[in-house]
Amino acid sequence: MAERVIPLVDQRLVALRAAVPERAVPATGLLADTLGRPLRDLRISVTDRCNFRCSYCMPKEVFDKDYKYLPHASLLSFEEITRLARQFLAHGVRKIRLTGGEPLLRKNLEVLVDQLAQLRTVEGTPPELTLTTNGSLLARKAKALKDAGLQRVTVSLDGLDDAVFRRMNDVDFPVAEVLEGIAAAREAGLGPVKVNMVVKRGTNEHEILTMARHFRGSGIVLRFIEYMDVGATNGWRMDEVMPSSEVRARIAAEFPLVQLDPTVPGETAERWGYADGEGEVGFISSVTQAFCGDCNRARLSTEGKLYLCLFAHNGYDLRALLRGGAGDEEIASAIGHIWQGRSDRYSELRGTMAADTGPGGRRVEMSYIGG
Ligand code: GTP
Ligand code: 5AD
Ligand code: SF4
Ligand code: SF4
Repeated sequence: MAERVIPLVDQRLVALRAAVPERAVPATGLLADTLGRPLRDLRISVTDRCNFRCSYCMPKEVFDKDYKYLPHASLLSFEEITRLARQFLAHGVRKIRLTGGEPLLRKNLEVLVDQLAQLRTVEGTPPELTLTTNGSLLARKAKALKDAGLQRVTVSLDGLDDAVFRRMNDVDFPVAEVLEGIAAAREAGLGPVKVNMVVKRGTNEHEILTMARHFRGSGIVLRFIEYMDVGATNGWRMDEVMPSSEVRARIAAEFPLVQLDPTVPGETAERWGYADGEGEVGFISSVTQAFCGDCNRARLSTEGKLYLCLFAHNGYDLRALLRGGAGDEEIASAIGHIWQGRSDRYSELRGTMAADTGPGGRRVEMSYIGG
């Protein structure tokens, strides 16, 4: 993957501003961006690798045996991740989500979970600690993750039909093993478990009701995600997007639904409950109903670049600060400056010139930035 860093001159500016005391941005927990959005959610990618090749994320033709993944030395160490996470928490972050690639491919991930679980929010409480996984290694790792302090998991699963699932992961991985992973997560107490289903028209739309019937009444929250134009390699086409309104109508025709309130501000999913009380489903509608207005998520890439949007072209090189010997205050100040300058709202601008002409380079891949 080519380097995608904010040009050095900006980088220096960030460091310079951070170094001038009267311009420093101390961590007060009250940070807001140019649109008044606070910083609450930190998504940390721990690897750019994955053992699946979902065509909407890591198409086989691009992510083949010659694909250049990040070399080990450029990955943030667990200590570096924890040090950065501490500064993000001081700025008001309350939830940390580990992502990838497939995060469970990162060796000894429970060691990182244990370190992060020791950190505290500005309120003095432990951060909400969670992880998004394809579930393939979950049966093996659920208990160790829970013991280390992970609170819950979200599992990606695009269908229950084995043939459909094997085709979508494109590595012939059987659905039964993911279901075992989900069961292990529940047994370990990593709940409420959520299941994410990316709906692609013409590929797995017939799995919508099968999935709804399967998870209804199970305590597992099923969420339908609109297929997004993230990255630059998945060949996204609008006609393959099934709007959430359509997905919801299909479910409601069999099981009446009532809208529920958000659990926290800035949530990705709109929540709907089964009218008979048999649980809830969620709809993540980044394409047809953008939710940038209260987006409070920052993303830290595997090599330590801070991205302000899932669709960003460039990241801010925090690893350079870390490895250049910056102190905690300087790092916190840099994070503060970067967030204060944030104006990203890609999904709201999608399809306009402003969305397409970001500064330099292609949009980063989701496997790199972390979903
Ligand atoms: P919860 O904490 O359970 O609410 O999880 P989450 O929805 O924040 O995270 P998850 O990893 O389950 O993401 C669900 C889907 O929403 C994935 O397809 C993500 O790529 C997408 N997603 C998450 N955050 C954003 C965002 O800020 N913008 C957009 N456009 N999509 C997002
Ligand atoms: N559109 C929508 N969701 C996607 N995911 C990965 N690529 C896409 C895409 N192009 C989902 C995964 C996982 C989550 C982190 O992001 O299925 O559930
Ligand atoms: Fe891997 Fe998840 Fe991307 Fe599929 S969506 S290729 S499981 S990172
Ligand atoms: Fe946030 Fe960017 Fe997603 Fe909008 S498109 S919700 S700004 S990450």
